[in-house]
Amino acid sequence: MIELRGVSKSYNNGAVKAVDNLSLSVRPGEIFGFLGPNGAGKTTTIKMMVGLLKSDSGSIMINGYDVEKEPLQVKASISYVPDNPEVYEKLTGLEYLTFLADVYRVPREERLARMKRFLELFNMTGAVGDLIQSYSHGMRQKIVLIGALLHEPDVFILDEPMVGLDPKSSHNLKEYMREHCDRGKTVFFSTHILEVAERLCDRIAIISNGRLIACGTMEELKEQAKNTGSLEHIFLELTEA
Ligand SMILES: Nc1ncnc2c1ncn2[C@@H]1O[C@H](COP(=O)(O)OP(=O)(O)O)[C@@H](O)[C@H]1O
Ligand SMILES: [Mg+2]
Repeated sequence: MIELRGVSKSYNNGAVKAVDNLSLSVRPGEIFGFLGPNGAGKTTTIKMMVGLLKSDSGSIMINGYDVEKEPLQVKASISYVPDNPEVYEKLTGLEYLTFLADVYRVPREERLARMKRFLELFNMTGAVGDLIQSYSHGMRQKIVLIGALLHEPDVFILDEPMVGLDPKSSHNLKEYMREHCDRGKTVFFSTHILEVAERLCDRIAIISNGRLIACGTMEELKEQAKNTGSLEHIFLELTEA
């Protein structure tokens, strides 16, 4: 469960209003897509949700915990995959995953089974013994993804996760997101790939200039936009102004 109430954030002492009075709620079992043009405020919103940035006003609750007042409880129940993965280059993939499994206190038996499964899912089994500095951008992204999945987070938050993934990994990630939500967990992700959002998401929010301009199921978005076309048509129409 994710609940944003009236969240705002400015940069440069108020010169840039990146997020403007944003309210949203995401229910358990939902795949929620977060869309908007470049610079709309998606990454800023996500960074506030995961505790990397402090909001100027408003509140963010995740799984019933307040992000500012109960940060540890929030962090224990989420995983976050940033848009630009920066990983410890001097560790091997396996050392990195073991480190994260320790941080999240994943029991030994489970961590081994999950590592095996996710390494296979993302075709990383052969590279896990190599230093991360030798990985390509896509491989770095995949090792971060695997690390984020090891503790089976209740709320899985991803910023532009499909960018840089090969088609098979991207397909497997989408399948995994669905499976994760079918077990009652929550996935929140930003994307520019409207076809993916249209097919995969239970609900979608569109933001522009930091403000929510539409939110709902595909059917509801069509109604809001008075447009029965694809998500691309709706998106272009709603973000025109
Ligand atoms: N660290 C920063 N300092 C100043 N302005 C920023 C910073 N990060 C983002 N912004 C500005 O905030 C707005 C929202 O950016 P961002 O949240 O990255 O959007 P999105 O992820 O939707 O592309 C943009 O106008 C961007 O230029
Ligand atoms: Mg962004």
